Amino acid sequence: MTMMLGAGDPPTVLPVAESAVADEPEALPQAVVDAGRSQPLRGCFVTGTDTEVGKTTVTAGLLHALARQGLRVAGYKPVAAGAVWQAAATGPDGHWHNEDVEALHAASSIELTRSEVCPCLLEEACAPHLAARLEGGRIEPALLIAGAHRLMPRCDVLVVEGAGGFCVPLVESQAFSEAPAVSDDTVAATPDTDWGTDDLAVALDLPVILVVGLRLGCINHALLTAEAVTARGLRLAGWVANRIEPTMPHAQLNIDTLARALQQRHDAPLLGVVSYHVPASAAAVAEELRIDAVLEALGLQG
Ligand SMILES: Nc1ncnc2c1ncn2[C@@H]1O[C@H](COP(=O)(O)OP(=O)(O)O)[C@@H](O)[C@H]1O
Ligand SMILES: [Mg+2]
Repeated sequence: MTMMLGAGDPPTVLPVAESAVADEPEALPQAVVDAGRSQPLRGCFVTGTDTEVGKTTVTAGLLHALARQGLRVAGYKPVAAGAVWQAAATGPDGHWHNEDVEALHAASSIELTRSEVCPCLLEEACAPHLAARLEGGRIEPALLIAGAHRLMPRCDVLVVEGAGGFCVPLVESQAFSEAPAVSDDTVAATPDTDWGTDDLAVALDLPVILVVGLRLGCINHALLTAEAVTARGLRLAGWVANRIEPTMPHAQLNIDTLARALQQRHDAPLLGVVSYHVPASAAAVAEELRIDAVLEALGLQG
């Protein structure tokens, strides 16, 4: 069931790296949460008001901006759904291609393999727990947490991109999931309760940066997400306004409203307003981030 990324033939099941398989001996999810807390991570967890709001774009921009400060940065995408096999120009080699993984791989300032950037890459472009099910297995939380901890000793800052919005299911509870872990045939039991990206953020115990895709409805989505973040005991370190719609009416008024509400309710500063760019390159986005505010929000100053 476990495949190496870059293996010769296109795998028919989940392409994950053997080296990234965790060996958590205890039942989930408490053991997973404890594992995440045993050794603190440095960096942030980037979430968004929805899928397709600019998490990857802003994560790459953050990596670029932090690297320009002389920091060793690594992008981490624990779970990505939607991969196509890309054969090498010559020979039998190739790799599974996913836009998020490529973007974070390119924006990292340390050498990483694709499977280090993303230990759980699923072929089907749909909700991750369903993509895993379609591939005949399930996502293994311990693998996702272990992947972050493996990268930390090699970098100063880890920028983790979630999947979709903040509360996306990754593993369905025992009652629903009889399938084996997609990542490995050996590791832990299915948790008794559902386990999702919010639980992953808690297990990683990183401050959260919220990317708000500016469009109608984003104020509500941003405030709900901020509440969900802080209700789980995580710190909302700040937020980024992303102009995904170039012609959104009253965009600045929306930003002003959110800036006030998120500062007042969650002490979360605005870390930058990203304009509509085509392409929205990491370098261009980095220019629009308030790097001093980012460093302060992540406790990296001085
Ligand atoms: N500021 C922006 N200007 C123009 N296009 C953007 C901007 N931010 C994101 N996009 C585009 O919107 C799409 C979704 O962005 P992405 O960063 O992949 O979102 P997410 O990671 O939240 O799914 C991508 O095609 C991306 O290039
Ligand atoms: Mg993304």
